[in-house]
Amino acid sequence: MKKKIALIFGVTGQDGAYLSKFLLKKKYKVYGVKRRSSIINTQRIDDIYKDINLKSDFVLYYGDLIKKTQPNEIYNLAAQSHVQVSFEVPEYSAEVNSLGTLRILEAIKNLNLEKKVKFYQAGTSEMFGRTRDKFQNEKTPFYPASPYGVSKCFAHWITVNYREAYDIFACNGILFNHESPIRGETFVTKKIIQGLIRIKHGYQKKLFLGNLYSKRDWGHARDYVEAMWKMLQQKKPNDYVIGTGKTFTIKEFVNKAAKKIGLKIKWVGKGINEKAMNIENKKVLIECKKRYFRPLEVDYLKGNAQKAKKLLKWSPKISVDNLIDEMIEHELENL
Ligand code: NAP
Ligand code: GDD
Repeated sequence: MKKKIALIFGVTGQDGAYLSKFLLKKKYKVYGVKRRSSIINTQRIDDIYKDINLKSDFVLYYGDLIKKTQPNEIYNLAAQSHVQVSFEVPEYSAEVNSLGTLRILEAIKNLNLEKKVKFYQAGTSEMFGRTRDKFQNEKTPFYPASPYGVSKCFAHWITVNYREAYDIFACNGILFNHESPIRGETFVTKKIIQGLIRIKHGYQKKLFLGNLYSKRDWGHARDYVEAMWKMLQQKKPNDYVIGTGKTFTIKEFVNKAAKKIGLKIKWVGKGINEKAMNIENKKVLIECKKRYFRPLEVDYLKGNAQKAKKLLKWSPKISVDNLIDEMIEHELENL
C-alpha cells in the first residue's frame, strides 16, 4: 500500500520532533521543513534523521515543499512561539505566525490541492488570554494578551476562512501548554527543572523567575501530537480544544519539582521580593526578577477538552506529575 505523506513546518521544534516520530510509527513518509541556522538545529530529531535521501521515510529540506512532496497532510507547527519574546519582536512574530499560516493556505489553494491536502494549524490557549471563564472550550471568546496571542488569532481565523471559502480540510487545534524533556530551555517548566537540578548538583547557584502566580494547564507533548493527527483523520474538518482540565500555579510546579528533586524549600517575602530558601543550608535558591514579568499576563488557563474526548476519542494519558518525573529523569541523564 502507498504510504501517506505528511509535511511538517516547524519540524525541529518540540512538537515537530514528537509528531515526526508518531507519524513514522504510523508508517507515514514524513517531510520536514527546516531553516538554516549558524549551528546545527536538528538535535531533537537527530535520532530519526539520517541524511537527505529521498528514499528514507524521514526527509528534511530547506524551503517550501508543498508542490514537490504533494503531501496528504500538512502540519503547520512553525512559529515564533515564545510569548514574552513576542512583546519584543511583535512584527516578526506576526510575520511568522500569521502570514506564515496564510502563505501555506494560499499555496494549497493556488496549487489546486484543496481536495487532496488536509491542513493542521497549531493554535493555542494563549488566544483565550484574559478570559474570565472558569474552563475554556471551543466556544470561549478569544481575548489575546500578547502579540503572540493576537498573531495566532489571525492564523486561527484565516484557517476557518479558507475552510469555508475554498472547502479546504483545515483544522485548528487549540492546544493548552504541553511540555516534555525536549521543551525549549526558556519555557518555565524546563527552566525550573533544569535550574533546580543544576542547583542540587552544584552547577548553578540561583534560579531567577517572573510571575509565580499565573496558572497553567500543563500536558505532555507526546499526548498532544496524537490529538493533532486525530483531527486530520475525521470525516469533517473542525476545531478542537486540547488540554487536561487541571491547572497549577508556577509556584505549585516549583514545589512539586523541588520535592521530587530532593530540595527542601521554604518561601519567604512578597511580590518581587518573594524568594525560596533551601531549608537545609539557608541559601536562597529562587528569586524573582522584573525582566521575567510580561507587560501583560495571562493569569489563568484551564481547558475543557470534552469535544475532543467525544469526537476524537482523545484524552490525556500523562499527568503533570509523570511529566515532571520524565523531565527530571532526562535532565539527570544529561547533567
Ligand atoms: P517550538 O519548540 O518553539 O518550535 C517552533 C518551530 O518553529 C521550530 O521548528 C522552529 O525552527 C520553527 N520556526 C520558528 N521561527 C520560524 C521561522 N521564522 N520560519 C520557519 N520556522 C520557524 O514550539 P513547539 O512548542 O514545538 O510548538 C509548536 C507549535 O505549536 C507552535 O506553533 C506553537 O506556537 C504552538 N503551540 C505550542 C504549545 C506548547 O505549549 N508547546 C501550545 C499551543 C500551541 P528552529 O528550530 O529553527 O528554531
Ligand atoms: N518563560 C518564563 N520564564 N515564564 C515564566 C517565568 C520565567 O522565568 N517565570 C514565570 N513565568 C510564567 C509566565 O509569566 C507565564 O505566566 C507562565 O510562567 C508560563 O510561561 P511559558 O512557559 O513561557 O509559557 P506560556 O504559557 O507563556 O506559553 C506557552 O504555552 C502556550 C499555550 O498556552 C508557549 O508554548 C506558547 O507557544 C503556547 O502557545
